[in-house]
Amino acid sequence: MTDPSPNIPWYKAYTGSTPQGRLGDGREQSLLTHVRNLSPTTPSSVATAIDSFAFSNQYLMTIGPRKATLLISLITSRKPKIMLELGGYIGYSAVVLGAAVKAAGGEKYISIESNEVFASIAREMVSMAGLDGFVEVQVGRSDFLLRELAASASFASGGGLDFLFVDHYKPAYLHDLMLAEEIGLVREGTWVVADNVGHPGAPEYKAYVLCSVEEKRRKVQWGQREANPNARNWYLREGERGVEAEEESVVGRPELEYDTECLEAFEPDGTPDIITLTKCLG
Ligand SMILES: C[S@@+](CC[C@H](N)C(=O)[O-])C[C@H]1O[C@@H](n2cnc3c(N)ncnc32)[C@H](O)[C@@H]1O
Repeated sequence: MTDPSPNIPWYKAYTGSTPQGRLGDGREQSLLTHVRNLSPTTPSSVATAIDSFAFSNQYLMTIGPRKATLLISLITSRKPKIMLELGGYIGYSAVVLGAAVKAAGGEKYISIESNEVFASIAREMVSMAGLDGFVEVQVGRSDFLLRELAASASFASGGGLDFLFVDHYKPAYLHDLMLAEEIGLVREGTWVVADNVGHPGAPEYKAYVLCSVEEKRRKVQWGQREANPNARNWYLREGERGVEAEEESVVGRPELEYDTECLEAFEPDGTPDIITLTKCLG
C-alpha cells in the first residue's frame, strides 16, 4: 500500500517549516485559539480545523491528512483493541487515529507526550472531538511511561499492545522499540508503525526491523552498539534541560521475528517520506 499521488495541490499542503523551527514558538497556543473559535465537535471537524491552521498559518509537525488516511486504513483492516502512540504533540494523530480505533471496535488509545503544554492542548482537542474516556493523553517521557504501562493492571497479566505507533524522537525509536520488546508490550501479533523513517530518518531503527533473527543473533551486542548510544544522547539532551539522566541497558528480544514493509508516504508539506509497517511474528 502506498500513498497514491506525490503531487499535493498547494491548498492541501501544510505551509513549509521555517529554518527558525517547527514547534514551540507559540504556534501551538495560536492553533488552540484557532480551533476553539471554530467550535468543532467531532474528530473529523477537529482534524479539519487543525489542518486549516497549518494550510494557511504555520507548519505543524502532525502526520497531516494524507498519512492519516494511510494509517486509518491500516487500523480499519487490523482492528487493534489497544493502540499506543509515542509522541502525541497537539493531539492530531490521537484524535484521527483514536477515532479510527474506536470505529473499528477498539477499547483504548493511549497517547504519550513529554511536553506538558502540548499534552494539555492535546487533551482539549480530544475533548472537543468527543473522545474523552477513549483516548488517554499521558504526559511524560516515553521510556518511563512504557515501563509504568507494562506494570499497570491492563498489561501486567501478560497482554501486550495490538498496535504501537512510533512518532516521537527519531534517535529514541530503536531504544524504545527494544524496551517495549523487553517488557512484553511488543510481542507476537503486535503491529508497529513508525513515521518519518525516511525523513528526517531513523536508520538504525529501520535496519533493526528489516533484520532477520539470525542477523540479530549475530549482532548479539546490538543493544550496546546501536540502541544505547542513542538513548544516552537522549538522556544527555534531557540532562541539559534539567531532567535527571537514567543509565540503563536495553537489550530487547533479538529472537522476535519481524515482517516489515516500507510504505511510501508524504509529509504534510509534500516532502517524500517512508513509514514502516512491522508485524511481530513472535
Ligand atoms: C512529530 S511530533 C508527534 C506528532 C503527532 N503524532 C501527530 O501526528 O499529531 C513528536 C512529539 O514527540 C514528543 N516527544 C519527543 N520525544 C519524546 C519522548 N521521549 N517521550 C514522549 N514524547 C516525546 C515531542 O514533544 C513532540 O510533541
